[in-house]
Amino acid sequence: MAVSPQRATGAAPAPGAASTAARRPALRRPDRFAARYGPWALVTGGSSGLGLAIADALAAIGLNLVLVARHGDALERAAADLRSRHRTGVRVVAVDLATVDGPQQLIDAVPDLDVGLLVAAAGFGTSGPFVATDLSTEEAMLAVNCRAVLALTRHFAPRLIERGGGGIVLLGSLVGFQGVPACASYAATKAYVQTLAEALHVELRRSNVDVIAAAPGPVHSGFAARAGMHLTRAAQPADLAVPILRALGRRGTVVPGALSRLLTFSLRMLPRPARVRVMGNVMRGMVHGDGRTAG
Ligand SMILES: NC(=O)c1ccc[n+]([C@@H]2O[C@H](COP(=O)([O-])OP(=O)(O)OC[C@H]3O[C@@H](n4cnc5c(N)ncnc54)[C@H](OP(=O)(O)O)[C@@H]3O)[C@@H](O)[C@H]2O)c1
Repeated sequence: MAVSPQRATGAAPAPGAASTAARRPALRRPDRFAARYGPWALVTGGSSGLGLAIADALAAIGLNLVLVARHGDALERAAADLRSRHRTGVRVVAVDLATVDGPQQLIDAVPDLDVGLLVAAAGFGTSGPFVATDLSTEEAMLAVNCRAVLALTRHFAPRLIERGGGGIVLLGSLVGFQGVPACASYAATKAYVQTLAEALHVELRRSNVDVIAAAPGPVHSGFAARAGMHLTRAAQPADLAVPILRALGRRGTVVPGALSRLLTFSLRMLPRPARVRVMGNVMRGMVHGDGRTAG
């Protein structure tokens, strides 16, 4: 595990960053959001995809960030970009959350920070026939997608209660609403996340801690390549970050993106066994060849 200190730089904004950001929805009442969930947000999976997009939206309203992922170089690049564009504090923690000690190493790297928001976005998927999967990869996926989420939520929830409030965003998926053939184990990890978040949304509400499950459909990110999928009609992470954060404190689950909401709505009309078959057909169309498991 490697930790970098927070620092600010005066580098120029990333090309196109301002014009792109101007077209995207902004958080309503950003000062209130920052006061409620700041001063520090810890974002696992903060070097790429949805985690990075959420980190960017948080930095834009002045929150300081802890970015977490395995690869230190990607973390440092993301941190330098966020510091230069938003002039916010960023600490990076390079840790493998699939390892037994990973979550505790992360916790040990931030004892001095007043973390008001946990965003658990680190995760990966696998695809293809269940009997062809590699057991050690499936176990690593279970560890990152579920065990690390459990350990971090269990650590931070009582601390958020103690400090008088805060928030927890857990990244689930549309596949977590039912079984998904050709993606059986990944969908099961996201069902765990969905169920955990739904329950904690109610359980922690009285303690002023907001919990939400974010359940996106396909998103352009590093996810598809690692999962052995090709995604169609995928959303851009930056288009989903603000809708996810806007829903925090309002709902227990958010399905960000119009297409994903439409798909969820249509599937809800079907009995659960039919949903499983439909999602299996959709997934088989997304899997490369017979599918392969992620490394
Ligand atoms: N993309 C989609 O279509 C989609 C749809 C629904 C839900 N989701 C969920 O959204 C979340 C974010 O995925 P994404 O689409 O943003 O994918 P991504 O671009 O591949 O980002 C995954 C992030 O997690 C980190 N990570 C992966 N394994 C890790 C480990 N063992 N320890 C620590 N960090 C690890 C990655 O960094 P390193 O590789 O450096 O570790 C990266 O920062 C995931 O939970 C995913 O299941 C994705």
